[in-house]
Amino acid sequence: MNVLIIGSGGREHCLVWKIAQSKLVNHLFAIPGNAGIAQIAKCEDIPVLKENFKDILIFIKKNKIDFTVIGPEAPLVDGIVDFLNENNCLAFGPDKIAAQIEGSKVFTKRICMKYGIPAANAVFFKKSELENAIKYINNLKDDNFPYVIKADGLAAGKGVIITKNKSELRDALTGFFVEEKFGKSGDEVIIEDFISGFEISLLCLCDGNILIPMDLAQDYKKIYDNDIGGNTGGMGSYSPLTFISGALYEKILNKIIFPTFNALKAEGINYKGILYGGIIVRENEPFLLEYNCRFGDPETQAVLPRLKDDILPLLINCTNGTLKDTKLNWENNKTVCVVLASKGYPESSSKGDIISGLENIAQESKVLVFHAGTKKDSDKIVTNGGRVLNIIASAETFKEARNIVYDSIKKIKFNGMQFRKDIALKVEEI
Ligand SMILES: Nc1ncnc2c1ncn2[C@@H]1O[C@H](COP(=O)(O)OP(=O)(O)O)[C@@H](O)[C@H]1O
Ligand SMILES: [Mg+2]
Repeated sequence: MNVLIIGSGGREHCLVWKIAQSKLVNHLFAIPGNAGIAQIAKCEDIPVLKENFKDILIFIKKNKIDFTVIGPEAPLVDGIVDFLNENNCLAFGPDKIAAQIEGSKVFTKRICMKYGIPAANAVFFKKSELENAIKYINNLKDDNFPYVIKADGLAAGKGVIITKNKSELRDALTGFFVEEKFGKSGDEVIIEDFISGFEISLLCLCDGNILIPMDLAQDYKKIYDNDIGGNTGGMGSYSPLTFISGALYEKILNKIIFPTFNALKAEGINYKGILYGGIIVRENEPFLLEYNCRFGDPETQAVLPRLKDDILPLLINCTNGTLKDTKLNWENNKTVCVVLASKGYPESSSKGDIISGLENIAQESKVLVFHAGTKKDSDKIVTNGGRVLNIIASAETFKEARNIVYDSIKKIKFNGMQFRKDIALKVEEI
C-alpha cells in the first residue's frame, strides 16, 4: 500500500523509517518532510495548515495513497482526520473531538475532576474573568507557591509558566489575557498546584475500544545539562525506564491511563490513535500532567527502534478499530536519543548552516540519524529549524548506547551546534 506521513520533525523521520520496514508498504510519501525523510519518502512541500487540507487531499488522491499518518498535534486539533475521513481517506490519529485531550487543557482537567483521575488541583478562568482571577491570586498564601499557570489551547510547549510568587503569577496572567501572547490559546487559563517529582512519558496505541501501552520513555525538556535553562521541544530521550517498579507502572495504568480511556468512552468519544500520557511521580504516586494526542518527539525516536513488530498493521488496526489484545514485542536493549539543536535555540533558531560529517555516520549500523530541522540546498544539507538532528543508538546497556551516540556526535558539525551531554546519564549504571 501507499502511505503518507504528515510532518517534518525527528518523530516523523522515525515513523517513516519504521514504516518503510513494513512488508505492507509499496510507496512512501511525506508532507512536507525534511532532508532525511526525502531519502526514503517522496516529499511534497505543502504547509500543514488548515487552509491547505484540501491540497493534502488532492495529493492523496493523485498519488493513490491508502493510509495517512498524522505526526503533529496542530492538524489533529484542527480536524484533519475528520476532513480526510469525510473524503473517504483512511488516516491515523484522533478526530477533532478526541484531539481536545491535547487541544484543551481545560477539557482534560474537567475529565480528571469528573472521573477522579489524579492530577494537580486546579481552577479555571476565562479572559472575561480577569478581575476574579486577580482576586484569586491575591488571596493565595505566599507559602503555597510555586503555582503553575497554563494556557488552555496549543502553545507549542511555551504556554506553561511556573511562578514563584504572586507578582510572577499576575504577570503571567496578564501575558495571557491582556498581552495575548498566545492568541486564542490563552483565552482561558488553568492555575494549578505545583507537583514536584520526576516525569515519564507513556505512549499508548488506541483503537477506540482497546488501549495498548508501549514501553515507557523519558525526555529532557530543558536546553542545558542538569535541567537548566529554557524549555525546548525536547533535547533527548531514552527508553525503557527500568527503574519504574511493576507496582508503580500498574498504578499509572490503573489510576490514570485506563480510567481516562474509559472516561472518554463514557463521554461518547471514540479515541483512536496515540494517547500519550505525561505523568509526574511524587513519592511513588503518579499524577497526570497532560495528555498529548500524537507520538512524542523525541520519545518516539527512543521507543520505536526497540519495537520488533511491523508498525504499519498496528497503526491501521488502531484506525479500523481492530487492534484486539495484540501483544507488542520489544527488543531487550536500551535506546538513547540525543538532539542536536541550532544556534540560538530555543529563543530563536538559525537556518542555512551547512551540516557536515553525516556521511561518516551512515555506514555505522549501530547508529540511527533522524533529521528534524534540515533541508537540502543543492548538494548540501543545511539547518532549517531549532532541533536539527537526532542521533540514536541501541545497546545492551545505557552506558554503551550513550558512548555510541556521543562518539558519533563528534563526527557531525554545523555552526552553533548545541546538545546536552547528560541524556540517560542518570540511568547509565542501572
Ligand atoms: N502542576 C505541575 N507541577 C509541576 N510541574 C508542572 C506542572 N504542570 C506542568 N509542569 C511542568 O511544565 C511542563 C509543561 O507542562 P505540560 O502540562 O506538559 O504542557 P505542554 O507540554 O503543553 O507545554 C511539564 O513537562 C512539567 O515539567
Ligand atoms: Mg508536555
